[in-house]
Amino acid sequence: MEARFSLTFQYQVLFTNSVFDPQNPLLVRTLAQKEPSRQHCLTIFVDDGVMGTWPHLEEDIEEYIDVHKKHLRLSTGLIKVSGGEECKNDPDILHMVYRQLLELEVDRHSFVLAIGGGAVLDTIGYGAATTHRGVHLVRLPTTVLAQNDAGIGVKTGMNFFDSKNFIGAFAPPFAVINDLRFLKTLSCRDRRAGIAEAVKVALINDRNFFEWLESQVQALNAFDFNAISHMIHHCAELHLNHIACSGDPFEIGNARPLDYGHWSAHKLESLTKHELRHGEAVAIGIAIDSRYASQIGLLPKGTEVRICQLLEKVGFRLWHPVMRDTDSKGKLRLIEGIREFRKHLGGDLSITLLTDIGERVEIHDIDLREIETTIHWLEDRERGS
Ligand SMILES: NC(=O)c1ccc[n+]([C@@H]2O[C@H](COP(=O)([O-])OP(=O)(O)OC[C@H]3O[C@@H](n4cnc5c(N)ncnc54)[C@H](O)[C@@H]3O)[C@@H](O)[C@H]2O)c1
Ligand SMILES: [Zn+2]
Repeated sequence: MEARFSLTFQYQVLFTNSVFDPQNPLLVRTLAQKEPSRQHCLTIFVDDGVMGTWPHLEEDIEEYIDVHKKHLRLSTGLIKVSGGEECKNDPDILHMVYRQLLELEVDRHSFVLAIGGGAVLDTIGYGAATTHRGVHLVRLPTTVLAQNDAGIGVKTGMNFFDSKNFIGAFAPPFAVINDLRFLKTLSCRDRRAGIAEAVKVALINDRNFFEWLESQVQALNAFDFNAISHMIHHCAELHLNHIACSGDPFEIGNARPLDYGHWSAHKLESLTKHELRHGEAVAIGIAIDSRYASQIGLLPKGTEVRICQLLEKVGFRLWHPVMRDTDSKGKLRLIEGIREFRKHLGGDLSITLLTDIGERVEIHDIDLREIETTIHWLEDRERGS
C-alpha cells in the first residue's frame, strides 16, 4: 500500500501603513476574502513591547472592528504576551495560549492574529499550529527582523531544555501583513538587528542587493523610511522566493541556505542566555562563516573583510566575550554549535558557505581547527590588531 498526495499552500505577504485605520480595507479584505458573507471571529495576541509603545492600539482595533462589524468580530480583548525571547523559553505562555483558544472556542474557521516581534510570532504560531491541528493564523510582524524574515516564512518554534527551536512546526500562515508604521517605536538595537538577515539573504542570493546595502548604510543607520522600506521589501521577496521556489519549503533535505551563519548564531544566543538578539548573533555568524570560507580558499581573500565592514558600519559588534569560553577539555564552547546543528539535521552535516558574494555552496565537513583560527581572527579584529 502507498499513500501519495500533495498539497498546495498559498499565502500573501502584504505591505501597508496604519493597518487599523478604519479607512484601510486591507485587513478586512484579507480575512473575508474566502468567505465574504460570514462574520469572522478574531482572537488577537499582542507582544507587550508593542502594547507598551502603542497605548491606543486596543482602542484603534476596537474601532476598526466596529466599523467592519459586518465581517469581523472580536472573541475578547487583546491578549498580552511577553515580548522577546523569554516567551519562546516559557512553556507557561504556550499553556496560556492553549487555554485562551480553548475557552474562547477558537475553531478552524476563526482567525488568530499575532502582533509582535519574531519571538511572539514563533510562540503564537506554534500554539495556533497545534490547536485543533492548525487554526488560521494572520501575522502582523512589528520588528524589522520579523517583517523581512521571521514573520513571513513557514516555520514556528519554541525553545525547550535550553535548546533553541527544539519544538516547532512547519505551518504556513493564512496571510502576513507588514505594517511599516509599527517600526517607528522600535529600539535602535531592534532596528539594526533585522539588517543582519538582509545581509544574509543578499550574500546567499543577490550581489546587487549586497552592493545596494553597502551604498545605503548611512540611510539605513538613520532609519530612513524609504531605505528601510526597500530593504524589508526586497529581503522579504528573496526570502519568500526561496521558500516557494527552492523545492524544499519544509526542509526535508539537509541544505538550509536561509540558515547561513546560523549554526553559530543559535549557539551564541544560548551561550549568552539570549543577551544577544537573534540578528546580532546572525551578524557574528555571518562573519565567522565568511572568514572561514576565505581561510579554506573558498571565498576570494578580502571578501570576508568587505562583509565584516558592512556589518560593522551598520553597527554590529562582531565579537562577544562568550566566544572565548571553553569547556572542561579546553575546547571553544561555540564550536559545539556545529555538533548541535549536525544533530538537528539528523546526522549529516550540511552548511552553506559562500564562494563569492551572492554565490553559495553546501559543504559537509568543517575543519574545527580552522574555525578556532576564525574565532581568534575575530577577537584580534575586535582588539583592533
Ligand atoms: N520562524 C522563523 O522562521 C524565524 C526566522 C528568524 C528568526 N526567528 C526568531 O525570531 C526571534 C527574533 O525576533 P525579533 O528580532 O523580531 O525580536 P523579538 O521578537 O525578540 O523582539 C525584540 C523586542 O522588541 C519588542 N518589540 C517588538 N515590536 C516592537 C515595536 N513595534 N515597538 C517596540 N518594541 C517592539 C519586543 O517586545 C522585544 O522586547 C528569535 O527568536 C528568532 O529565533 C524565527
Ligand atoms: Zn535568522
